[in-house]
Amino acid sequence: MKLEGESLEVGLGERSYEIVVGRGLGEVLRLAIEDLRAADHPVAAVVDEGFASSHPSFVQGVFGDLPIMELVSGETTKSIATLERIWDFLADSGMDRTGRVVVAGGGVTGDAGGFAAASYLRGIDYLQIPTTLLAMVDSSVGGKTGINLGAGKNLVGAFHQPTGVWADLDLLSTLPPGEFSAGMAEVVKYGLLGDLALFEELEKGAGLNPSSPDLARIVRICCETKARIVSEDERETAGTGGRALLNLGHTFAHAIENVAGYGDYLHGEAVALGLTAATRLSELSGFLPKGSVDRVAQTLKRYDLPVVLRTPLPMEALLEAMYKDKKVRSGRLRFVLMEEVGRAITVDEVSMAAVVDSFNVIAANPVADEVSN
Ligand SMILES: NC(=O)c1ccc[n+]([C@@H]2O[C@H](COP(=O)([O-])OP(=O)(O)OC[C@H]3O[C@@H](n4cnc5c(N)ncnc54)[C@H](O)[C@@H]3O)[C@@H](O)[C@H]2O)c1
Repeated sequence: MKLEGESLEVGLGERSYEIVVGRGLGEVLRLAIEDLRAADHPVAAVVDEGFASSHPSFVQGVFGDLPIMELVSGETTKSIATLERIWDFLADSGMDRTGRVVVAGGGVTGDAGGFAAASYLRGIDYLQIPTTLLAMVDSSVGGKTGINLGAGKNLVGAFHQPTGVWADLDLLSTLPPGEFSAGMAEVVKYGLLGDLALFEELEKGAGLNPSSPDLARIVRICCETKARIVSEDERETAGTGGRALLNLGHTFAHAIENVAGYGDYLHGEAVALGLTAATRLSELSGFLPKGSVDRVAQTLKRYDLPVVLRTPLPMEALLEAMYKDKKVRSGRLRFVLMEEVGRAITVDEVSMAAVVDSFNVIAANPVADEVSN
């Protein structure tokens, strides 16, 4: 069968795997699962309920009579209680060490289902079928799995690479527009951190939607960037740069999500705000010229993303949440900044005053008005 799509590899030695990006992948997936079962691998599916209810015929066609567990949509699903339920489900499904978990959904399902696979029987194989744009370009690739604690997002988890990622862009047809935009925040992030040509295309482009002919190419570009960075620094241990670069905007974003309360902002919306703040910090650090905040903000707004907080959040709480973030090293916060648009670096020495100023850019104060009009 000819795939309307192309695959690319995440090169990690024996943990290498393919990412397939295309359209109409249901039949190929069904056959792949059939092959696994024919080879006596127990297979079970963990599926996001929002996706399942939007694509019943895909779910029925691909998973058929497999044991299926649906996860409630939303960030609160990334919890210990959910994990326990998935572990029980896997045990009830007769999952053994040769088994495969197929995880289909957005980043929430991918992170929770992936972590369940990472921990059940000390780690079994899993496949990712990302069904949101954010999951396709980011969370399904690279093997970061985990759940949240009250103290912060993604504080418990494991690196556990999937054995394959299948991104079927047709599944995005039912994604709420806001969720599509949220995924675009990560797409813009890839341009800003490592691909000037991509950023310029997004800056000038006429917009994108789930049926845009350019979408597959753009998703692939993002996956290629992520695959390259992950294969150079799988566990984010590089002293400088490396996988941490993928967190551009995320130190701010996580603080916003934490203080606003999970769910107030979509993750991608928080990332858009974080990218705007990180651009300001890059200006203040002398890397980017004045006017860069406006340039980045205008691009994010083109994809219907917020660049100022809907309601101002208390600065003290934002700073406190930031310092609780897991990226604090010996009490120091490591920031990802842009040396220039299209090239990110990690920086350890950033003044608190500059961080406060950067939060102010998105906090709907007079400085923020410059970028909100
Ligand atoms: N592991 C990583 O490397 C990584 C990277 C980035 C983000 N994340 C995590 O990803 C999560 C966010 O993921 P997300 O933005 O995909 O959100 P999500 O998983 O919450 O999905 C968003 C919404 O879309 C619905 N949905 C999913 N697919 C659909 C479809 N095809 N049609 C209609 N509705 C559909 C879901 O039910 C949900 O309501 C966060 O928890 C974040 O921490 C992880």
